[in-house]
Amino acid sequence: MSPKPRKLLVTSALPYANGPIHLGHLVEYIQTDIWVRFQKLQGNECWYVCADDAHGTPIMLRAEADGVSPQELIDRVHGEHSRDFATFLVAFDNFHSTHSEENRILSELIYRRLDDAGHIARRTIKQLYDPERNMFLPDRFVRGTCPKCNAEDQHGDNCEVCGSTYDPTDLINPYSMVSGAKPVERDSEQLFFKVEDFRDFLRKWFDEGRTQTEIANKQKELFDGELFQWDISRNAPYWGFEIPGERDKYFYVWLDAPIGYLASFRNLCDREGIDFDEFLSPDSKAEMIHFIGKDIARFHTLFWPAELKGAGFRPPSAVWCHGFLTVNGQKMSKSRGTFIMAETYAKHLNPEYLRYYFAAKLDNNIDDIDLNLEDFRVRVNSDLVGKLVNIASRCARFVGKEFDGRLAATLPEPEMYSTFVAALDSVADDYENRRYSKAMRDVMALADKANQYIDSAKPWVLIKDEARHAEVQGICTQGLNLFRVLITLLKPVLPVTAERAEDFLNIDSLTWDSPREPLLDHSINRFKPLLTRVEEKQIDAMIEETRAVQETAERRAAGPLADDPLAPEITIDDFARVDLRVARVEAAERVEKSDRLLRLTLDLGSEKRNVFAGIQSAYDPEMLVGRLVVMVANLAPRKMRFGVSEGMVLAAGPGGSELFLLSPDEGATPGLRVR
Ligand code: MSP
Ligand code: ZN
Repeated sequence: MSPKPRKLLVTSALPYANGPIHLGHLVEYIQTDIWVRFQKLQGNECWYVCADDAHGTPIMLRAEADGVSPQELIDRVHGEHSRDFATFLVAFDNFHSTHSEENRILSELIYRRLDDAGHIARRTIKQLYDPERNMFLPDRFVRGTCPKCNAEDQHGDNCEVCGSTYDPTDLINPYSMVSGAKPVERDSEQLFFKVEDFRDFLRKWFDEGRTQTEIANKQKELFDGELFQWDISRNAPYWGFEIPGERDKYFYVWLDAPIGYLASFRNLCDREGIDFDEFLSPDSKAEMIHFIGKDIARFHTLFWPAELKGAGFRPPSAVWCHGFLTVNGQKMSKSRGTFIMAETYAKHLNPEYLRYYFAAKLDNNIDDIDLNLEDFRVRVNSDLVGKLVNIASRCARFVGKEFDGRLAATLPEPEMYSTFVAALDSVADDYENRRYSKAMRDVMALADKANQYIDSAKPWVLIKDEARHAEVQGICTQGLNLFRVLITLLKPVLPVTAERAEDFLNIDSLTWDSPREPLLDHSINRFKPLLTRVEEKQIDAMIEETRAVQETAERRAAGPLADDPLAPEITIDDFARVDLRVARVEAAERVEKSDRLLRLTLDLGSEKRNVFAGIQSAYDPEMLVGRLVVMVANLAPRKMRFGVSEGMVLAAGPGGSELFLLSPDEGATPGLRVR
């Protein structure tokens, strides 16, 4: 074991700021958070930082499509991401943004140092350009016909049908996904980071075991040829940081993204008075550890260590990769309703269940992990509710009722207790090495032991015999002490349950070493159920809502015309038969026994009309009085349950709260004809 306290700077990959957090992302944030919480419980100085990855073409285009500025988009998403992380108990010490002053300063600094040391090259390259939108196109924004198999509508760099990879310039009939125009080739000068300069350094870094062997072997394949030069610049228009000393050139998002780790830490250091250099200087004794998904290994194990080295910072101590999440054995899928958002999950299920389930599945390898929803339900119910919480509830009953909440002064089975305490060391080793699934298995095996102990001691039988009451107090004291060890072992995974257990046991916040001494001759509080069972219907409701969220998103993206197609053509005479008039709302009130209708009294200038309008969920009646609207004035009166409706007011939208009354511009008067 390294001397305590260790100094650790830990990161998770920065989520893109153009979409919500989903359960796939959470594999990583939960994996990291468990590790960080474990380190903190051990008394190490551990800082966990993250940020939104707020730059790049997709974010620029996304903001444009939403009709907002990139800044507005990333501000909104930052709020949503922060909320989701808090819900899943992912406790960053700082959650910053790559679009921050700290990041601009650090990105410029690192770039300048690399340039000064001769690690930046300039070359003119051909790239696809959208002549309508006037921008260079990232590969993923070009589609076309596969040059190998002629499959239509394939990605710019690979074909999903035949699996071949190619340059976007090889596509037959390419088109821009931004404008639909045919891209043209254009020359432009770009800046490149010479990764080759760091060949020896990187080889050594890999050989020191800084990342999993599978990842290292894959990256080292590149060492056979000349290491490529990495294009770190993008032409305007781009959403990011301008490159100092250049015209209309921006840092590629993947240059400033990992620097965002440092920027977030810098921001934290300034706030908390932490010494940044102690963690980042080349001779730092602190550890810097990045948790990432295997898809972004190249950026983190080649470019990033080389960048840090070249710019005079310390390289990462470790880059730990995980695999991808599948749901029910398949890729997360929008149509199957398994592309589940963090927010949707949390509306139906306890976030700690997912933390536990992921922990039970996660190992230190890069295998994909599967969330099987039936297994999830059974596992959570049997392990957490059936085994763990059961120990406490079985014992608490007697201690509360028969012994006034007081624990006995000695343990009847001290040796058994020692075997539980020994797990503090073995399980610590598992957490440290990210063997969470083994840790969970071992903890649950101990929970079984604790339950077996209570089963065979049978306190519920002994309690009937007045002479054996003291024994019952001992058994329950033993049981609750075993429970206290188990809760400590699970605290990195279940922080909220642990806190509630601490309340119930009436103790200070548990640290890793607290249970080395048993809790004796001590008063506990009344037991309240710590966790409830997962029901099948909760999972069904989550899937149902995921589908609905997906459908709404698709409808939005397709636009209202797709959902509500245009009616058959009419002539101008058809239209002229509808007499539309401006009217003023003179009075408006809710209709009793209707949650949909408002009764409106409309002033048409020379006459009044009584109209029932189905706009209650979008408008308060008070807001409407005095307002001008447009009505169909020659509609045949219609008898309704509440009275006769003499016309109709015009509103746009699908209904419900999404309804927009039409009004004339200022200056119109009641009775005017609408043509
Ligand atoms: N913005 C980059 C990372 C920059 S780090 C300097 C990015 N963002 S991401 O939002 O696409 O992904 C964030 C993290 O979540 C990545 O580590 C990625 O591997 C992980 N995951 C995203 N989807 C995932 C699954 N379905 N399963 C497991 N992890 C996944 O990449
Ligand atoms: Zn093909």
